[in-house]
Amino acid sequence: MLKDKIKKIYKAKVSNFEQLAKSSYFIEIETDNPINVKAGQFISVYCEGLTLRRPFSVFSNNNGKIGILFKEKGKGTKYIKSLKKGDLIDVTGPLGNGFEIMEKRSLLIGAGIGTAPVSFLKTKLDEKGIENIFAAGFLNKDEIPCCMKIDRIYTDDGSEGEKGSILNYLGILINEYKPEIIYTCGPFIVLKTVAQFGEMYGIETQVAMEKVMACAIGVCRGCVIDVKQNGRIINKTVCKDGPVFKGSEVVWQ
Ligand SMILES: Cc1cc2nc3c(=O)[nH]c(=O)nc-3n(C[C@H](O)[C@H](O)[C@H](O)COP(=O)(O)OP(=O)(O)OC[C@H]3O[C@@H](n4cnc5c(N)ncnc54)[C@H](O)[C@@H]3O)c2cc1C
Ligand code: FES
Repeated sequence: MLKDKIKKIYKAKVSNFEQLAKSSYFIEIETDNPINVKAGQFISVYCEGLTLRRPFSVFSNNNGKIGILFKEKGKGTKYIKSLKKGDLIDVTGPLGNGFEIMEKRSLLIGAGIGTAPVSFLKTKLDEKGIENIFAAGFLNKDEIPCCMKIDRIYTDDGSEGEKGSILNYLGILINEYKPEIIYTCGPFIVLKTVAQFGEMYGIETQVAMEKVMACAIGVCRGCVIDVKQNGRIINKTVCKDGPVFKGSEVVWQ
């Protein structure tokens, strides 16, 4: 039964590793069975010596190679950072639902490492010829991954783009660009604020949530959040039902 719930487990070979910003690293893996990944889906990586796999959003998917962009936090990410080209790693995925792409003028909001799935979404929207603008916020210019195609940049210290939090510019972006949908990933406060702006302006929002995960396949229920549906509040798992939810459905605490 449990096996049925796991979409795919495979050994993958590290095919590329690069530092893309002061504290973010890109690792690309070559899988046995190339698969199509939706933006917003994630993979879960077994890190040597640790019981729980670590989840990472897919950042790129080219010719069967899956890339993630990550920041070093603790033991798991330290292990991933230690990997070299040719090393084998154990990954599960793709997991979760991913963003539901709509044929609508799209505003993409990414903050920090949350720009990874949003950047991947931009690639998908561009491929489909859907009009979009990608706005991203970072602490400073050293944190901006060098390869990202970002239309508007905001840094807290003003070292690149406009100065200040991207949240200070949400109203301006919406009024100027008049999006029909907003997709976002980043810290909780960014997701919550984007969802609130969506409600205020009557614009649909899709938010990619993050929760500490154990099984990552919807079994342990360690990652549930409250969601409003049909006038009721119910639990949904971030790993399987999400990580992407409609901003208007999430019960923001
Ligand atoms: C759906 C999803 C997508 C993510 N995408 C990315 C990404 O693209 N790039 C990136 O750098 N990070 C991403 N993260 C966060 C990433 O999973 C954590 O940074 C990583 O698990 C930390 O592991 P660690 O052993 O290095 O640190 P730890 O020492 O274990 O913890 C450091 C911090 O990370 C958090 N954390 C630890 N384990 C998990 C876990 N299993 N799930 C979530 N958070 C955890 C802890 O609360 C703590 O604040 C994502 C998380 C989720 C849930
Ligand atoms: S992590 Fe187990 S249900 Fe989500």
